[in-house]
Amino acid sequence: MAAPLLEIRNVKKYYPVKKVRNGEDISVKAVDQIDLTVNQGEIVGLVGESGCGKSTLGKTILKLHDITGGQILFHGEDITNYTEKQMRPLREKIQIIFQDPYASLNPKKKVVQSVMTPLDVSGKYTKEEKLKKVIDILNEVGLSEKFLEKYPHEMSGGQRQRVVIARALINDPELVICDEPVSALDVSVRSQVLNLLKDLQKERNLTYIFISHDLSVVEYLCDRVAVMYLGRIMELADKKQLYGNPLHPYTRALLSAIPVPDIHAKKDEIILQGEVPSPLNPPKGCLFSTRCAYATERCHKEAPKLVELTDENGAKRSVSCFLYH
Ligand SMILES: Nc1ncnc2c1ncn2[C@@H]1O[C@H](COP(=O)(O)OP(=O)(O)OP(=O)(O)O)[C@@H](O)[C@H]1O
Ligand SMILES: [Mg+2]
Repeated sequence: MAAPLLEIRNVKKYYPVKKVRNGEDISVKAVDQIDLTVNQGEIVGLVGESGCGKSTLGKTILKLHDITGGQILFHGEDITNYTEKQMRPLREKIQIIFQDPYASLNPKKKVVQSVMTPLDVSGKYTKEEKLKKVIDILNEVGLSEKFLEKYPHEMSGGQRQRVVIARALINDPELVICDEPVSALDVSVRSQVLNLLKDLQKERNLTYIFISHDLSVVEYLCDRVAVMYLGRIMELADKKQLYGNPLHPYTRALLSAIPVPDIHAKKDEIILQGEVPSPLNPPKGCLFSTRCAYATERCHKEAPKLVELTDENGAKRSVSCFLYH
């Protein structure tokens, strides 16, 4: 059997912070003990409140910074300690789309230059081939040839994000990390760009890790969803299981907070109480224990592991909560 496209094993990314307590260096555990497998052609959502480590996990997978611990495997190959030179061919295969297309594009470059850059780097094509590829990919993301000569400031936010998507896809990547790709866009164009991403995924059999704080968007787009809290995965399940029968009290609280007429989980609505604890001083025991209505003495002392459960239909899901262990 072929290896999964991406495997993340016990991955940690700690940011050292200068402050010293009891003579020890303190660090923010932005990502801690994350295990996640992503299969080819899947869309896996990463959700959770601001600061829970979603972007850090994305950047860690891309190896945009050092990793504190754990392993990253791509097609079964351990790339954790790859040098930048070894990573170069993989950079074509793993792409990222950020929230703000204006910040992602060089304001001094025309669309044709921005979208062509990855082809220049790969060095595989003639000038004519490159231009043809740029026009083809622009058409695929819904932009005509007249956009070739435009600068970022001459386009709308939605058009700019289409250019960013074109640039990310021009070298036929396998995995695309989408970090809040529509959050900065005008509400009126969000669904168009989401539909575009969904269509492209289908047509090109792409794999997405889709980061969002918007649970409705994740429900619409994703096959599986990981719920993160203070750097860890609290629950991981198929979309239907997660939205239809959320287990972790944190997941239930997040779903209760969806501000639309909601068919999910309203019967036992949980209101999220208090603030997310400081990541510099996380709670002992379960990280969610300070905000959890069900926390027992044990939860304040001991941290539950992410444990895989099998339901009566044989479907597997994982949850990190003593209520289910
Ligand atoms: N370069 C850095 N140095 C120190 N701490 C950082 C750095 N980048 C992120 N952090 C911290 O790591 C934690 C996770 O941040 P991250 O940006 O990954 O969260 P996020 O889930 O993407 O949040 P958001 O929804 O706001 O984008 C936060 O506590 C953040 O303050
Ligand atoms: Mg982020």
